[in-house]
Amino acid sequence: MGLGANVGKTALITGITGQDGSYLAELLLAKDYEVHGVIRRSSNFNTGHIDHLYHDPHERGLPLTLHYGDLADASCLTKLVMRIKPDEVYNLGAQSHVAVSFEMPEFTADAVAMGTLRLLEALHWVDWPVRFYQASSSEMFGKVHESPQNEMTPFRPRSPYAVSKVFAHHMTVQYREAHGLFACSGVLFNHESPRRGATFVTRKITRGVAQILAGETSKLYLGNLSAERDWGFAPEYVEAMWRMLQQPEPDDYVVATGEAHSVQEFVELAFSLVGLNWKDYVEIDKRYFRPTDVETLLGDSSKARAKLGWAPKTSFRDLVRIMLANDVREAQIDPNTYRELAGIEPDIPGSRVIARIAREVAA
Ligand code: NAP
Ligand code: GDD
Repeated sequence: MGLGANVGKTALITGITGQDGSYLAELLLAKDYEVHGVIRRSSNFNTGHIDHLYHDPHERGLPLTLHYGDLADASCLTKLVMRIKPDEVYNLGAQSHVAVSFEMPEFTADAVAMGTLRLLEALHWVDWPVRFYQASSSEMFGKVHESPQNEMTPFRPRSPYAVSKVFAHHMTVQYREAHGLFACSGVLFNHESPRRGATFVTRKITRGVAQILAGETSKLYLGNLSAERDWGFAPEYVEAMWRMLQQPEPDDYVVATGEAHSVQEFVELAFSLVGLNWKDYVEIDKRYFRPTDVETLLGDSSKARAKLGWAPKTSFRDLVRIMLANDVREAQIDPNTYRELAGIEPDIPGSRVIARIAREVAA
């Protein structure tokens, strides 16, 4: 099948309310998929990232449908799969915060490890050719013994989150090998955007800078500044997920930029883009250190580049500029006030980036 021929395809996404889920939903809708998303019941609305995609359910024939569900509930996952009959399933749902996983290891393992197994179990009985994507993580490499990391690098997980992702990763391979399920695992390195959760370090920094500019606070409290990450731009990473499921054979892929920067470099750049010296504002707070941290991650995505034709486009500097411009705007300050942020378009939901990627892929 050609890369453009998606009309009539149906996708089911767990984690659709998160950063990646919302960008992936946009990408698939732009490609004419019928998209179904699993959302958790919450006492407050938690659909801010996808509200622009959603319409009144009383209107018929709309391409996005949301369903209540949870990765903790096997019968509900099975029911959804049988009712929706998806061609592609993207398992992005997770308790995805590494530091929180030390506080809530059992809950994390239930959603991340057992949740994946429940979904795989629901899928391998179906009688149509379903394809499955598992959101694996560079966090699985943990205490790395080689750099950069590729598909052959051993896992040395350093948190309950990472241990759970290793379980889910191996289980995905297991269902592929034992049951012939078309199951792919994307080992994605850190990817960020204006939709990144506010407690992940990149967004915490860009929001912190914006709040300082707005006079709402005078300090930004952080933990381990020496940790290094391979940071990319999230909308580009969801395209890699989709490409994995369009291949003739299922496989696992590392997705990364191939460039690592320390948390301190991110901090320095974010402050300097608005003419501030980070040393005047950043304080170290021990509470943000983890019992065990991953010191350095650097990905080798040669396989994804060769086989999927995927490559990152957004530089580290532009990633910081995009996130910072968004948070400055959210703090009611015009980003054009700052030369380095001038002209950056807002992260309009229904994103132009996604529309561009969809057009490029279809061309
Ligand atoms: P995110 O913004 O934290 O989104 C996580 C999503 O999972 C949310 O929609 C959340 O729903 C949902 N969720 C949490 N617990 C669930 C449960 N028990 N049942 C069903 N859904 C549940 O994460 P992200 O950054 O988009 O990442 C997407 C996936 O990729 C995650 O699996 C993450 O672990 C993995 N990953 C992320 C990165 C990265 O750098 N972003 C890198 C590698 C792998 P609520 O909105 O209701 O909380
Ligand atoms: N969150 C946070 N808050 N991290 C801090 C802080 C802080 O105040 N100060 C320093 N850090 C350091 C952490 O110790 C870690 O070494 C690094 O910044 C990155 O932390 P996060 O942004 O929380 O991301 P992560 O690398 O732990 O996990 C993310 O990437 C994984 C892929 O490697 C998450 O998205 C995971 O879900 C994902 O799998």
